[in-house]
Amino acid sequence: MDLIIRKETKKDIPDVYEVITESFKSQEFSNQEEVNLVKNLRRTDDFIPNLSIVAEVSGKIVAYILFSKLKFEMNDGSVDDILTLAPVCVSPHMQNKGIGSKLIREGHNIAKNMGFKGILVVGHKNYYPKFGYSSIVNYNISLNMDIPADVVMLYEIEKDYFNNNSGKILFSDSFLP
Ligand SMILES: CC(C)(COP(=O)(O)OP(=O)(O)OC[C@H]1O[C@@H](n2cnc3c(N)ncnc32)[C@H](O)[C@@H]1OP(=O)(O)O)[C@@H](O)C(=O)NCCC(=O)NCCS
Repeated sequence: MDLIIRKETKKDIPDVYEVITESFKSQEFSNQEEVNLVKNLRRTDDFIPNLSIVAEVSGKIVAYILFSKLKFEMNDGSVDDILTLAPVCVSPHMQNKGIGSKLIREGHNIAKNMGFKGILVVGHKNYYPKFGYSSIVNYNISLNMDIPADVVMLYEIEKDYFNNNSGKILFSDSFLP
C-alpha cells in the first residue's frame, strides 16, 4: 500500500471533511458534528496546523487526525496546555489496515517534539489502551463536562505527568454543546 502520512494542506480541507463525514456516518455514538467541530477549532488558537494530519493512498486522502489544545488547571494554581485527540477517522473501505494506528503514533511523535506532556481522548475504550491511554478514573483529574468516565482516557507523553498532577481539564467552547 502506497501510504503517505503528512501534514494537512489548505487544498486537502474539502477531502478531509468528506472523509470525516463518511467515516462517522454509520457510527451509532456519533452526533455527526465532527466536521463542525473541526471547522470551529480552525477558527481558534487551539488548532495546531502541525497536528492536523492526513493519510494519503495513491493520491487520495483516506484518513485524518487532529490534536488540538485544551487547558489543564492544576490544583497548585498552574495551567498547562495539553492536547485532545479528536477526531481520528479512516474511510470505511480503508479501515483495519493499520492506518488509524499510524496516524495516532505519528501524532504522538509530533506532540512530543513540540513539548506537549499529555493527551486526552474521548472514545472507544477498547481501541486507545494499546497506544498507552488509560482511563481518567486512574487519576485525580476531573473535567468541566459530564462525560461517562469509561470513555475518557489520558496518555502521558511525559512519564507520570497526569499521575503527578491533580486538577481539572477544561474543554473549550468548540466542544461544549
Ligand atoms: C476507529 C478507527 C479510527 C480505527 O482506524 P483503523 O485504521 O481502522 O484501525 P487500525 O487498522 O489501526 O487498528 C485496527 C484495530 O482497531 C480495532 N478497532 C477498529 N475500530 C474500533 C472500534 N470502533 N472500537 C474498538 N476497536 C476498534 C480493530 O478491531 C483492530 O483491532 P486489532 O488490532 O486488535 O485487530 C476507524 O475504524 C474509524 O475511522 N472508525 C470510524 C470513526 C471513529 O469511530 N473514530 C474514532 C472515534 S473515538
